[in-house]
Amino acid sequence: GTTLRALARKAGIRVGTAVNSDALAGEAPYAQKVADEFSSVTPENVMKWDTVEPARGTYDFTQADQLVAFAKAHGQLVRGHNLLWHNQLPSWLTSGDFSAAELRDILHQHITAEVAHFKGEIWQWDVVNEAFNDDGTLRDDLWLDKLGPGYVADAFRWAHAADPKAVLFINDYNIEGVNAKSTALYDLVKGLRAEGVPVQGVGIQGHLDVKYPAPHDIADNMARFDALGVQTAITEADVRMTLPADATDVEAQDEAYQTLLQGCLLTRHCTDFTVWGFTDKYSWVPGVFTGEGQANIFDENYRPKSAYTALGQDL
Ligand code: XIL
Repeated sequence: GTTLRALARKAGIRVGTAVNSDALAGEAPYAQKVADEFSSVTPENVMKWDTVEPARGTYDFTQADQLVAFAKAHGQLVRGHNLLWHNQLPSWLTSGDFSAAELRDILHQHITAEVAHFKGEIWQWDVVNEAFNDDGTLRDDLWLDKLGPGYVADAFRWAHAADPKAVLFINDYNIEGVNAKSTALYDLVKGLRAEGVPVQGVGIQGHLDVKYPAPHDIADNMARFDALGVQTAITEADVRMTLPADATDVEAQDEAYQTLLQGCLLTRHCTDFTVWGFTDKYSWVPGVFTGEGQANIFDENYRPKSAYTALGQDL
């Protein structure tokens, strides 16, 4: 049969998956599916701050390098994820009592070291991840708290200096449709670009739940970003449901996946559709959303689900 990556190629986009590095190294059928079905990959965890800089100024890119090598061997592009976030930070950073100047220097060093390490190997970088609250205000995390809102522009400038060819993204969730959060992000990106800040892409995560209808204005929302001259992508698609699921849940899941993909296909500079893991065997959902699961497009035994077929039909 055909594969998602073959269909995506004809559609002119990449189809990607987040990759669990332990499964990739330890389980042949997992690695086989990544290679066969996808044309881009995102490290699920191994490029995050706590993994790559476990002690201040000490870097460990071992697992990330392995994924980059895998991608190269299989003709895949890599989405770097991520450089700045409020989660998965090392404890030396979160518990250290740094002055604003020190923290700014730490961020500058981190972004420069990580982007420089992978220079030429990363297609798109998620530079800033989940910076907004749902009401459109900036998240009150240590970055905003100590550095003020200018940290966003700084992060993009530093990343661009370290690898001028990587496409630099801002990435967030609950920004699929037009709402307060996506509008605040739109205003920020517009303002930054007017100032010449190198923000070049908007990543729409796409973590959906069958309990809430998938927004049907995804393409409208993406069109306004498109008009700013930035790339867009669906970067972390999954559609969770309360277990046990029934046929209605499964149908709603298929539809939600299709709605996300169609948003991308209808947007001129949408470059890729990435799922946040492809198998129900390895998913962040059950660990975070109590009682929910079955969010992915293959089951625990790597059999394609109806959502897989639905995506293939739309590509
Ligand atoms: C998740 C991973 O899937 C988990 O393995 C990890 O424990 C926590 O982070 N938004 C993001 C991703 O941008 O980095 C998150 O990934 C899921 C939500």
